[in-house]
Amino acid sequence: MNILLLGSGGREHAFAWKISQSPSCSKLFVAPGNPGTAKIAQNIGVTVTDFESIYQVIVEKDIELLVVGPEEPLVKGIVDFLHSRPKTASLPIVGPSQKGALLEGSKDFSKQFMLRHGIPTASYATFNASQVQEGLDYLENHSLPIVLKADGLAAGKGVLICQSHEEAASSFKEMLVDAKFGEASSKVVVEEFLTGIEVSVFVATDGKSYKILPEAKDYKRIGEGDQGLNTGGMGAVSPVPFADKIFMEKVEQRIVVPTIQGLEKEKISFKGFVFIGLMNKGGEPYVIEYNVRMGDPETEAVLPRITSDFVGLLKDIAHSNLVNHRLEISPMHCTTVVMVSGGYPESYEKGHAITLPSEVSQGVLFHAGTSLGNSGQVVNQGGRVVAITGWGDNLQESMNNAYRIVEKISWENAYFRRDIGKDLVSFRK
Ligand code: AMP
Ligand code: GLY
Repeated sequence: MNILLLGSGGREHAFAWKISQSPSCSKLFVAPGNPGTAKIAQNIGVTVTDFESIYQVIVEKDIELLVVGPEEPLVKGIVDFLHSRPKTASLPIVGPSQKGALLEGSKDFSKQFMLRHGIPTASYATFNASQVQEGLDYLENHSLPIVLKADGLAAGKGVLICQSHEEAASSFKEMLVDAKFGEASSKVVVEEFLTGIEVSVFVATDGKSYKILPEAKDYKRIGEGDQGLNTGGMGAVSPVPFADKIFMEKVEQRIVVPTIQGLEKEKISFKGFVFIGLMNKGGEPYVIEYNVRMGDPETEAVLPRITSDFVGLLKDIAHSNLVNHRLEISPMHCTTVVMVSGGYPESYEKGHAITLPSEVSQGVLFHAGTSLGNSGQVVNQGGRVVAITGWGDNLQESMNNAYRIVEKISWENAYFRRDIGKDLVSFRK
């Protein structure tokens, strides 16, 4: 089967790595891909939001399955676009409809959805530009800290946690009146702050049935000990020791089941991945957010643990056959360390040649923000440059294997956190 995968990050390299190992994949194309995916698939120089060109590629290359990696094309409606075209009207796609993608594309929509289906989440209120005074009054009586969220997609920057009422009021005005996040902050969600420890849960669904994939913990802050600015993610581990059987049972019954049933009841077509960002608050799960795709770098720690045929899973999602799918998960532990360009998530230099090991053992190296320099060498291009996953029988062993590989990779001003997984090694309930 010919497969087209959209995206260019570490998540997509991990998808491509897994897909290319499957006996049912005859040809894999990645658009636009990166130098890592180029080694195992054919990259095609088309961006993920150029729907017309993607349509042409699907027709020309006889694509039989499309897998959408990032959220942007989903929120912009790629699935509806392709299904409205004659030659791709029945193309199997892993990725939700535009309505389904609203679970990530609009925080207000996702909060209303949770409320409608009794899914535990922080209490909230939403305000638009004509309700500024109402919003300011609401903030005055709100307990601290106050969480402000731009309604729309804001490249992971749209959440502000305000420690004072003054800060909340001025940020609120900046978002609504000065359009700090452009159209994304034309509505602002004001939310109760949840305290606890976060975990990412991934659910594959065809809109009716579901399979829960291995959970992961993401390390979002740039600095060790979870200090400093938020990033796209500096590392991940899977499994997560505090997400034990009892907790995951609560997640399934209180969150996963009503989410999938809610989609079905509301006739929202959703074939793809629901990524549930959860807070474990004293053993009780609360939804922080939904995403409508896999996480990055969580994917790099989760996919190596799937031992059943990955293309089989993707096909069963797209063909509404998950009910008959047998998902097999390895008990092994994975630790993913992301190496970034020094300066990220603020400004950073690009174009430095990267030294990479020719082979790795007990792990795998994924490209994220790399490109090929003038003389064909791999250089850093993005903030998050490579993601290294190490595996082993326990967390410590997987960390050792990841960091052993990391030590073989270097470029000018490279940075990474040395403490991924460290907080969980001695975790006891
Ligand atoms: P998001 O962009 O929704 O992933 O939010 C970014 C981060 O902000 C989350 O991963 C949490 O760490 C934090 N966050 C979001 N909402 C809340 C909340 N209600 N309470 C506490 N932390 C939150
Ligand atoms: N690692 C968080 C995300 O993918 O949104």
